[in-house]
Amino acid sequence: MAIEFSERIGRIPVYPAAGGYAKHGDLALLASNETPFGPLPAVREAIDTAVGRLNRYPDPSNSLLKTRLSERYEVPSERIAIGNGSCDVLLAAGEALLEPGTELVYAWPSFSVYPHLAAASGARAVTVPLDAELRHDLPGMLREITAATRLVIVCNPNNPTSTALRLAEIRAFVEEVPPSVCVILDEAYCEFNLLEDPDASLDLLEAHPNLVLLRTFSKVYGLCGLRVGFGLCGSEELPRALDQVRQPFFCNALAQAAAVEALAHQDAVVDRVTRTIAERISVDERLRAMGLDPADSQANFCWFSLGDGRDEQQVMSGLLERGILVRGGTALGSPTPALRVTYGLPEENRRFLDALEELL
Ligand SMILES: Cc1ncc(COP(=O)(O)O)c(C=O)c1O
Repeated sequence: MAIEFSERIGRIPVYPAAGGYAKHGDLALLASNETPFGPLPAVREAIDTAVGRLNRYPDPSNSLLKTRLSERYEVPSERIAIGNGSCDVLLAAGEALLEPGTELVYAWPSFSVYPHLAAASGARAVTVPLDAELRHDLPGMLREITAATRLVIVCNPNNPTSTALRLAEIRAFVEEVPPSVCVILDEAYCEFNLLEDPDASLDLLEAHPNLVLLRTFSKVYGLCGLRVGFGLCGSEELPRALDQVRQPFFCNALAQAAAVEALAHQDAVVDRVTRTIAERISVDERLRAMGLDPADSQANFCWFSLGDGRDEQQVMSGLLERGILVRGGTALGSPTPALRVTYGLPEENRRFLDALEELL
């Protein structure tokens, strides 16, 4: 007899993870918006030291990491939520806020974990298409907020389209959202956004207890292999509720130690952002020279349509045969063939561009 699963298992989408992990050899990994730069020597040392204490559980209150984040962002520790990756904070928010009869509003295409929140909780997902420039349509999202809305997510810069909104637009939006509705501003890529200072959104927290700025150590800090993210919250109730729905010890000891050390090296953040943006400019320029039209990227990846007549799968297979792993846009919500490609090291980007030119 087959195992009987809960009804929600039939509803929850399977996360469209990038393929190619089983492939070995000289691969250019441009599919997951990771940084090509390895952990800093000081971060490796902090991890090594923490390894010696792995017979002990990690600090369940993440106290040192919260203290360092509090110093860095001037947000009280009690208003900081830590997660096993920022995805963990997102999923916990879904669990703490949503249930059947409630609604969740987000843009589409956007981060592929958002549909999971509604499906897992039985809430209704209300999706609002991006505008013609592939940016969030905030007035359209406001119109979708009803008495049933519990959570609104704005992804800025947006994954997968790489585009960003100005802070003034976000401020005006948050001011219109009823204070009983939680707003998560997912800023996983904010360090790469040249439209604003990445710290500018912090000001919004003081006026909006319902706001969460979602950040991660997975991208610019290069620690996605360890899984650690955080939410800077407008109120203490939010982190408390998020902790209630999770197992204790959700953030492992190596991740906590690495994140604490990584925060002390803001000069490395600036250096990585500068190098990534230099690649962003040159990759986008060459894509345009090929007749493609990449979106205005404010992230560490580009997004471009391949044109209706092109076979996305064929282009991806061709790239993979040449040792280049990228993401197909249709699996990420694009109605037409498109690619999302992380900016890698100069040599990896050259390989990708040469191969794409050959394939097109
Ligand atoms: C927009 C966005 N938010 C959140 C995340 C989750 O990152 P993590 O769980 O590694 O912190 C990602 C990862 O790709 C992302 O693109």
